[in-house]
Amino acid sequence: MEKIVLQAYEKARSTLNNAYTPYSGFKVGAALVTAEGERIYQGCNVENASYGATICAERTALLSAVAVEGISEQHMGSRDMFSFLVVVAETEDPTPPCALCLQVLSEFCNADFPIYLANKREILRKVTFAELLPFPFNGTSLMK
Ligand code: THU
Repeated sequence: MEKIVLQAYEKARSTLNNAYTPYSGFKVGAALVTAEGERIYQGCNVENASYGATICAERTALLSAVAVEGISEQHMGSRDMFSFLVVVAETEDPTPPCALCLQVLSEFCNADFPIYLANKREILRKVTFAELLPFPFNGTSLMK
């Protein structure tokens, strides 16, 4: 496994411990890596008593990256700002990003974008974005 993938995995795994999950107890950590500079943005899920207001680990990581990095002219619309995502959960089997997170990610990820699914012991599986969401609704869909 590439060093940067292992580094991102470690960050996602440690961020999982910051998850705020008083309702589900289901903790998730995520790490998103920039294509240039391999900067790592972490996220955890933050739950809310109004359950629908809960934000998943993947979206936390993505929104943090966008807030800090901004989207440069070069990356606008090309969906190549990030090189991969790691998701860690305390499950035996791999936990994929939920459909809401995939929809949000679809703005910034192409079909071949790698997503590593892991638990606290190891990286279990590598999938592509298109395997999880093959036909996303995105900006192209809005063009009449
Ligand atoms: N959750 C994530 O953070 N990411 C996923 O990939 C799946 C679900 C969170 C949302 C909620 O806090 C808890 O897991 C249970 O659904």
